[in-house]
Amino acid sequence: MNYLSPSLLSADFATLGEQVQVLDKAGAQFVHIDVMDGMFVPSISFGMPVMKSIRPLTKRLFDVHLMIGNPDRYFTDFKEAGADLITVHAEACTHLNRSIQAIHDLGLKAAVALNPATSLHTLDYILEDLDMVLIMSVNPGFGGQAFLPSSLDKIRELKERINRTGKEIAIEVDGGVNLLNAKEVLDAGANVLVSGTGVFKGDIWENVQNFLQIMREAE
Ligand code: DX5
Ligand code: ZN
Repeated sequence: MNYLSPSLLSADFATLGEQVQVLDKAGAQFVHIDVMDGMFVPSISFGMPVMKSIRPLTKRLFDVHLMIGNPDRYFTDFKEAGADLITVHAEACTHLNRSIQAIHDLGLKAAVALNPATSLHTLDYILEDLDMVLIMSVNPGFGGQAFLPSSLDKIRELKERINRTGKEIAIEVDGGVNLLNAKEVLDAGANVLVSGTGVFKGDIWENVQNFLQIMREAE
């Protein structure tokens, strides 16, 4: 199955709660929560208090993308704030295996994100332990950047590797995904699409419907 994970980074924070409810009613299955610390990535976004405020508004899966250094410090806090799935960056974890184990020990799903320049070989000894891999199709830090075409080959290769494990490991793609390239990204092997500006620019309801239609057709 394919899933849409709208990135709240592109939401209008003055009416965040209402927009989360629109996403839910429109059928987006996940909520993508981009946490940035101003160190691992240049920008600062938001964290636990914002998550806690919106948690009662939807039962959809909270897909928390941690773009922060040494993320292990905060796993428990993010669980308490309502995270269902936590993604850490391979580039931000000195002991990646320990980080994934710590997320699983909390009863949450665990994923690893790879920056565009990070090789899939980083996952050689950990792939089978993951619930999902997040392929960054832009350099993380900001919404609204252009999709890097080299990501498509990376997704295809990852899909082949996952097939060889015989396990169900999701592939999420994040950065510059829009209604024009969504099909290509799905065809390459992705099954979780993150989209910020693609969902929040213009009519949210309509954008979600259009994404979901493309995703259903690709199944
Ligand atoms: C980038 C974030 C993305 C971003 C996606 O650092 O991880 O989730 O908000 O936004 P768009 O879809 O606008 O590229
Ligand atoms: Zn993200």
